Amino acid sequence: MRRMESCGYDSHKPSRIRLHREPDMQSDTSVRESVSEYYGQVLSASEDLKTNACCASGAPPTWLRPFLSNVHDDVASRFYGCGFPIPEALDGATAVDLGCGTGRDVFVIAQLVGARGLVHGVDMTEEQLAVARDTEAWHAERFGFAEANTRFHKGLIEDLSGIETGSVDVVVSNCVVNLSPRKDLVFAEVFRVLKPGGEFYFSDVLADRRLPEDIVRDPILFAECLGGAMYNYDLITLAKKTGFGDPRLVESHPITVMNDEIEAKVGLARFTSDTMRLFKLDGLDERCEDYGQIAIYKGTIPYHPHGFRLDDHHVFEAGRPERVCGNTAAMLRDTRYGEHFEVIGDTSVHYGVFPCGETMATQANGSTSVPTATSVAAPASTTSCC
Ligand SMILES: C[S@@+](CC[C@H](N)C(=O)[O-])C[C@H]1O[C@@H](n2cnc3c(N)ncnc32)[C@H](O)[C@@H]1O
Repeated sequence: MRRMESCGYDSHKPSRIRLHREPDMQSDTSVRESVSEYYGQVLSASEDLKTNACCASGAPPTWLRPFLSNVHDDVASRFYGCGFPIPEALDGATAVDLGCGTGRDVFVIAQLVGARGLVHGVDMTEEQLAVARDTEAWHAERFGFAEANTRFHKGLIEDLSGIETGSVDVVVSNCVVNLSPRKDLVFAEVFRVLKPGGEFYFSDVLADRRLPEDIVRDPILFAECLGGAMYNYDLITLAKKTGFGDPRLVESHPITVMNDEIEAKVGLARFTSDTMRLFKLDGLDERCEDYGQIAIYKGTIPYHPHGFRLDDHHVFEAGRPERVCGNTAAMLRDTRYGEHFEVIGDTSVHYGVFPCGETMATQANGSTSVPTATSVAAPASTTSCC
């Protein structure tokens, strides 16, 4: 597995950081106030973080580098995400970024949806939003758009009432769900705003167990994206209960906390930075079922001419037929990926359980080795915090 990098924060720095008031962390409001104070007033740049949990994104994928290089330094230097939750096939899409911070992912996605698309960023912390808004016009000009295709909203990710039901193609989030005291409401709101066939594509910190109360109630551990990390199986259960059948893991990277004091507090709990895809699709099966279906990637998704990686075991090589289960067939046919796949067969005849495993392209090449096109306008650079 790829080693997590440390985003410039110095693990030898004294970790004695203080919030202005000691929050009780007992009510949802006090949790949010404490988190907002942390991101609005305590931190002023990525390197102020005390652990690498909120910054454990590793090196950016090659295809994203030109887009990252177009992000203003004031934004990039305040990036606190733990991954690259930027899905494929975004041209013309309407997207929402939950907990957008200063807007790094919003401004990357703005380039990918293009002038016909629209990206909403939602965050509760005014100081973060101010940086995003101050650079909005600069970004629009840099992208060559007559007007900005970005909108920043001050608000809670547990209440997206400003966004119409069934109006959004893609919701993304980068290291924010863990910070919510009401993750059930976040999932319900994402499900509500997505169109049928829409996708929730997000990176977050997860834990290999339910964490003890003293960790969850520690304001610094919470704000550093560790205390609120969900037990990974609880996340799957919550996603399914909300209506997102068959959640798919795209990537998982171990988080090395790299802070002795904090490691001593969390003990043997293990944390990962995971990127997941959840689809709003009706009628998915409880498990992989075989209907004799085949999917062929057409190689038409921009920047992905050779292959498409649905998840950590489903790589589709352009032109190569792959046997797929009913759920995978639906994800590739009844979503915005549909125009890029030929899916042969339907669910009228059932052949029993599908022997779910790696596609032939994954077996041959591994799940992370899909070469992407790099011939896009801007020069390559590594503007991410890592
Ligand atoms: C770890 S930072 C990530 C910021 C951004 N996604 C990035 O990658 O730089 C978490 C952000 O989520 C926001 N946030 C946390 N909980 C929130 C909530 N319940 N509602 C709205 N915003 C929230 C914080 O204000 C902060 O800007």
